[in-house]
Amino acid sequence: MTQDELKQAVARAAADYVAANVPAGTVIGVGTGSTANFFIDALAPLKDRFRGAVASSEATRKRLAGHGIPVLDLNDIEEIPVYVDGADEIDAGLNMIKGGGGALTREKIVAAVATTFVCICDASKKVEVMGRFPLPVEVIPMARAHVARELVKLGGRPQERSGFVTDNGNLILDVHDLKITDPKGLEARINQIVGVVTNGLFAVRPADLLLLGAADGVQTIR
Ligand code: A5P
Repeated sequence: MTQDELKQAVARAAADYVAANVPAGTVIGVGTGSTANFFIDALAPLKDRFRGAVASSEATRKRLAGHGIPVLDLNDIEEIPVYVDGADEIDAGLNMIKGGGGALTREKIVAAVATTFVCICDASKKVEVMGRFPLPVEVIPMARAHVARELVKLGGRPQERSGFVTDNGNLILDVHDLKITDPKGLEARINQIVGVVTNGLFAVRPADLLLLGAADGVQTIR
């Protein structure tokens, strides 16, 4: 199976999960990226079963709208039973690195409201120790150099993502060479640097359920 076929398989499994577990008439949180895009496509036939979706990025908002799925403002929503999103890396504790697509801040906000975070990814994303994928950090532009210096002190090698502006008008520093043995601690530490909007570690609020696409089928990991 190709990587795209694995992503499609987990996306279908996530749509089945939503159909089986999410009460009719509620709101679904939807992530960003190629796997999330397959999920949106798989969700479209079910759109009459739920009220609408909250999008974690402009790209996701457009794709949802393209399928005729109502996109709702998070500020008008009190409860999101399920948030479905991909990851760049995920460990055994279901801690993740996210933000390869640059949508980490909105993803983290929607995930914070959601009751259940369902992570969908292919087997290549499952790791023992996170850090091979450079950790994305969203930064207020005027703080770029300060934040970069602080990240170097933490042992990282930050590189500005060239020509990229987030949906919030900020930039991304991708931090290389981190070996993340304390994901929760590092997430909190980086978020304390003045000028950081948030970082792509999802450990304070990890996934609750992982649907992992492998050659022999979709595994469900809690
Ligand atoms: C978007 O900002 C990211 O957090 C994505 O969820 C993550 O990069 C996974 O993307 P793919 O499904 O495209 O690998």
